[in-house]
Amino acid sequence: MASSPFPYQHPVDSSELVDRTHELRELLELAEAGHYARLAAPRRYGKTTLLGRLAAEAERLLEMTPILVDFSQVMSVGDAAIRIESAYRKATDGPVKKAVRDLMLSWNLGLSLGAGGIAAQIQANPKSDPIPALHRLLDLPQEVYDRTGRRSLVLYDEAHEMLRIDGLDGILRSHIQHQSRAASFVFAGSEPGMMEVLFGERERPLFGQAHPLTLGPLPNDELAGYIDERFARTGRDPGEALDALLELVEGHPQRAMLLAHYLWSATTPGQPATIATWSEALDAAIAPLADGFDRFLTALPSGEQRVLLALALSPHGLYSNYSQARFGIVKGAATRAVRVLIARGEVVRRGGSPQITDPLLRWWLRQRHRPDA
Ligand SMILES: Nc1ncnc2c1ncn2[C@@H]1O[C@H](COP(=O)(O)OP(=O)(O)OP(=O)(O)O)[C@@H](O)[C@H]1O
Ligand SMILES: [Mg+2]
Repeated sequence: MASSPFPYQHPVDSSELVDRTHELRELLELAEAGHYARLAAPRRYGKTTLLGRLAAEAERLLEMTPILVDFSQVMSVGDAAIRIESAYRKATDGPVKKAVRDLMLSWNLGLSLGAGGIAAQIQANPKSDPIPALHRLLDLPQEVYDRTGRRSLVLYDEAHEMLRIDGLDGILRSHIQHQSRAASFVFAGSEPGMMEVLFGERERPLFGQAHPLTLGPLPNDELAGYIDERFARTGRDPGEALDALLELVEGHPQRAMLLAHYLWSATTPGQPATIATWSEALDAAIAPLADGFDRFLTALPSGEQRVLLALALSPHGLYSNYSQARFGIVKGAATRAVRVLIARGEVVRRGGSPQITDPLLRWWLRQRHRPDA
C-alpha cells in the first residue's frame, strides 16, 4: 500500500511547508541585518519546521552558517554546553568545520566535533566545571567570523527552557551583545508566558533584545490546496470531508496534517471521501490521544479544568450563566486560570476570545462531556 503523504510526527522538510512565507522573509531580513528575533507559538505550530527552513535559506541566500541549538529540557550549564557543542557537530561543513575543529583543539577544554566531547568529559570527571567551555562555545560565532569571514545564524529552539538554569540568559547575553557583525540569533519558544519573562521583563538580561514574531494558524486556502494536491497525487479524493477537516482544525498545523493522514488512510482510492469517512478518520485519530488528554486534564488544578470544559462546551461563552451553572465558573478565578493557560500556550486568544489551542482536545472534551453522552 502507498504510504501517506502527510508527515505529522516530526518537523517537516522545507519542500513540505505550507505558507509561512511572510514570517520566513521577516526572519531572513532580521538575520541579514544582524538583529535578533524571538518566535513564539504554541506547541506543534511548526516552530522547528520553520527554523529548519530558515537555516537552509540563510545558508543559501545569505551565505550564513546556521547553528541549530535544541534547548528542550535543558537541565544544567553543562547540558547547555553539550547542546551547543552538538549543534556545531551536526551543522558545519567545509572551512567553518575546520575552523571550529582547530579552535576547539586550541582551547584544550576537551571539546571536540568527534564523538564524546564535553558529555564524555563530564561523565569521566563529574566535578569538572563546564562554565569555561560554555564561554568558549558562545564565542564561537565571533571566532569563526574572524577566521573565515562567515557569519553565523544561531537558532535556539525551545529557548525559554534556559530559564530553568539560573544565570544562563545572563551568560548568553554577555556574549551575544558584541557579536552583531559576526552573527544573528533567533530564539523560538512554545510557552508564551516564559518567552515574555525571558524577553519582556526589565530585570532580565535579554529584556527588549529581540524582535517579537508569533506563528499563527495556517490559512485555510493554502491548507486546502496542499491537502487536495497530495490526495490527487496518490489517486485519492478528500471530497466533502476536506471542508469538515478544515472547519475542525482551524489552521492548527500539526492537527491538520495528523487528520489529513487519517483521512487519507480511511479513503478508498478512486472514491471521494464522505462525511462517514471523515467520522471514521476522526475516531481513529483520537483513539491514540485519548489517554494522554485524560492524564493532561486530570493533572490540572480544578480551576483550569473548569475553564477548559467551559471553553469547549459552553454555547454562550466562558462567563455565561450556563458555564457558571454547569462548570462552576466564577469570574475572577476563571480569568486567572485563563491567564495561566494562555501563558502555557494551552489556550490562545482568537478575535478577542480565549479558545483551546488544540482542536482535538476541544473535540475530545465535547464528545466526552456533551449532555447526551
Ligand atoms: N508550515 C507547515 N506546513 C505543513 N505542515 C506543518 C507546518 N508547520 C508545522 N507542520 C506540521 O506540524 C508538525 C509539527 O511541526 P514542528 O515540529 O515544526 O512544530 P513545533 O512547533 O516545533 O512543535 P513542538 O512544540 O512539539 O516542538 C509537523 O510534523 C507538520 O506535520
Ligand atoms: Mg519543535
